[in-house]
Amino acid sequence: MAHPKRRQSSTRQAKRRTHDKAVAPTLAICPNCGEWHVYHTVCGACGYYRGKLAIEKEVITGVGGYVPDYILTNDEISKMVDTNDEWIMTRIGVKERHILNEEGLGSSYMARKAAKQLMKKTGANPDDIDLVVVATSTPDYHFPSTASILCDKLGLKNAFAFDLQAACSGFLYLMETAANFIRSGRYKKIIIVGADKMSSMVNYTDRATCPIFGDGAAAFMVEPTTEDVGIMDSILRTDGKGLPFLHMKAGGSVCPPSYFTVDNKMHYLHQEGRTVFKYAVSSMSDVSAAIAEKNGLTKDNIDWIVPHQANVRIIEAVAHRMEVPMDKVLVNIEHYGNTSAGTLPLCIWDFEDKLKKGDNIIFTAFGAGFTWGAVYVKWGYDGKKE
Ligand code: UT7
Repeated sequence: MAHPKRRQSSTRQAKRRTHDKAVAPTLAICPNCGEWHVYHTVCGACGYYRGKLAIEKEVITGVGGYVPDYILTNDEISKMVDTNDEWIMTRIGVKERHILNEEGLGSSYMARKAAKQLMKKTGANPDDIDLVVVATSTPDYHFPSTASILCDKLGLKNAFAFDLQAACSGFLYLMETAANFIRSGRYKKIIIVGADKMSSMVNYTDRATCPIFGDGAAAFMVEPTTEDVGIMDSILRTDGKGLPFLHMKAGGSVCPPSYFTVDNKMHYLHQEGRTVFKYAVSSMSDVSAAIAEKNGLTKDNIDWIVPHQANVRIIEAVAHRMEVPMDKVLVNIEHYGNTSAGTLPLCIWDFEDKLKKGDNIIFTAFGAGFTWGAVYVKWGYDGKKE
């Protein structure tokens, strides 16, 4: 394949131009520099790509979020199970969590609130949205997808939508997914939402799990850019051997709902906390160190770490391993608990005013599967969008 910039005689160029035809933006490896470029024409005769454009990257252009009004405090939890505020604060770091306690409302309700705020803040026209992807472990229904319901509630006419399931790492996987759809050149405005109503699967008689989780949703807009900001890199991992340690036993196709499964409390989240804790610390630390090294990031030029908010001790261990002081780590676990796919974007929602264009941010998470990873983002704008 000839390099598009290679000089050619004017007659040969004219001949080639007659063959050129417009194609959907196409990613191809430049034979000259080895980088991926987006091309907009291809020669009908020989198949050579032409019309190299500036490399399109993907940038986060806004954030919206929502947590329900009802707040479940540690004092209330202490009336439900044998625990106390001091244990929960020192072992987990949660003071309160928001709970969606209105009957008939699911994850799509919170996703809708977050996405509506996002669209308002970014001035997005509903007709311009190409794609909506929702990460959730607590969909409204097994099917259709929560993203389909959200699409309807937002009045999106030109979008397609689907759910992505990667438990607490869902939002990392979403950022990588959106980045690749933008890189294809065919999608210009993508909404990604992390939404989980964890209260729908928490057993409020189990003291080992009920203090940890809360409900919430937050969303990013992802769009193309030619600037040197955006979703720069990711390292994502999955290991299905984590199944026994974190799962819901019944309700899926292996063990459909029955009187037996309900009687035996098999529709609640099951977690072997100590094992998950160990894997979470080592996996999040290793992958964050790896992405930093790969991209020349050090404790001095990392501006923020945005860790999954599952346990403040896990967060501190990751920061320690990265040698990054805690004032560069975004933490809001105290007020929301673990909202699963919601934690990473909810952190950005809470601390948006602190962020500046060009800030180096490492997102990292760990969840059921096991799933884990890190995403390196160069932030795209200054301060809080209203
Ligand atoms: O988001 C997905 C990923 N999830 C995570 O990253 C969560 C990872 N795991 C954890 O965060 C922690 O393991 C937990 C918070 C779940 C538990 O903390 P821990 O320090 O690992 O406690 P443990 O399970 O080792 O239990 C220590 C003791 C036990 O008593 P004994 O056996 O030593 O007498 C528990 O029964 O603490 C007891 N305990 C409690 N005591 C008061 C467990 N839960 C409670 C409680 N209040 N709520």
